[in-house]
Amino acid sequence: MSLCLQWFMAFSTGQICGRLDPGRRPHSWFMHDQFPHRAARWEVCPNLTLPLPTSVPGANVHELLKPLGEYFALWDIEEVSASLDAGQWARAGPGGGHLPLCFMQGLVQHKPSVLFIAHGESSTGVLQPLEGLGKLCHRHGCLLLVDAVASLGGAPIFMDQQEIDVLYSGSQKVLNAPPGSAPISFSERAREKILRRKTKPPSFYLDMAWLANYWGCDGEPRRYHHTAPINSFFSLREGLTMLVELGLETSWERHQANCAQLCQGLRDLGLELFVKEEKARLPTITTVRVPEGYDWRDITAFLMENHSIEIAGGLGPSVGKVLRIGLMGCNSTSGNVDSVLRALRDALARCHRSRL
Ligand SMILES: Cc1ncc(COP(=O)(O)O)c(C=O)c1O
Repeated sequence: MSLCLQWFMAFSTGQICGRLDPGRRPHSWFMHDQFPHRAARWEVCPNLTLPLPTSVPGANVHELLKPLGEYFALWDIEEVSASLDAGQWARAGPGGGHLPLCFMQGLVQHKPSVLFIAHGESSTGVLQPLEGLGKLCHRHGCLLLVDAVASLGGAPIFMDQQEIDVLYSGSQKVLNAPPGSAPISFSERAREKILRRKTKPPSFYLDMAWLANYWGCDGEPRRYHHTAPINSFFSLREGLTMLVELGLETSWERHQANCAQLCQGLRDLGLELFVKEEKARLPTITTVRVPEGYDWRDITAFLMENHSIEIAGGLGPSVGKVLRIGLMGCNSTSGNVDSVLRALRDALARCHRSRL
């Protein structure tokens, strides 16, 4: 491990987005839903309001999109995303309307200081391949920031080998702990950048240099920053212990096998998997198209009321299009796959279906 792992309490993993040095260069964010919206909130902070063309009003952010259910290839990120018809855009931009083609150019055009990407895209169920991406970013002088909230522990990720600069996750998914803490790790490159920054972070709470000191990562005498939520950390520690006892590789294999069993069962029910390419399916969250004639809300409500099983509808651009089934951490078991398939069969038989 090339770095000291820093654990700290984040009020939400999204808080991390707003802590980048405003800098002179654009940040690029690649995610179908949540982060552009969060980045859009930056407009309330005058430091971050830059007069550059951007897909997010007021923030210095360029967004790349792919059709829902697809992942980014390296060339999409380096040069330009696939040339799509306007109607195929993953979603309308936060400012309304579809994003114009000129926003689809990648690292070559925008020369961002940070590239952000989600490893496990939880709104669509896509597992984004990361091979070669760190190298590519470094060739273009930018850092790679990866969101592994929905994937860490459930799918392989190798921070050092894949040259990831900032990697964070959340306690509440595969790590089996209550929500509230967000493990985050920085590469040497990222650490240097943090230490060299000229402007103070707008947030005291996520001032990384201060937090690094608080956690004893900088070799200096430790200074008070906040009162640590130690109950959260003890529960996270217990969740991690469970993962270590199981073995990381075994956990990856288990998520993969249970996801494959679930996908087969969903096909047997006549449902259509949303992510077409098998290797691009996130092993922790499986998405299916909302079956024709059904209202997705009827299905999710039925499962909850009759089977005490919670599955989700889509999120952001995938709302109304997909059902999302999360099986992660200790919930990823063959028995739970059978239960959810049985419950879905029941829902398809008993929920209202329009024949029109
Ligand atoms: C991929 C991904 N990133 C970020 C988040 C946000 O996490 P939090 O709710 O802890 O801010 C989620 C939440 O589900 C997620 O799935």
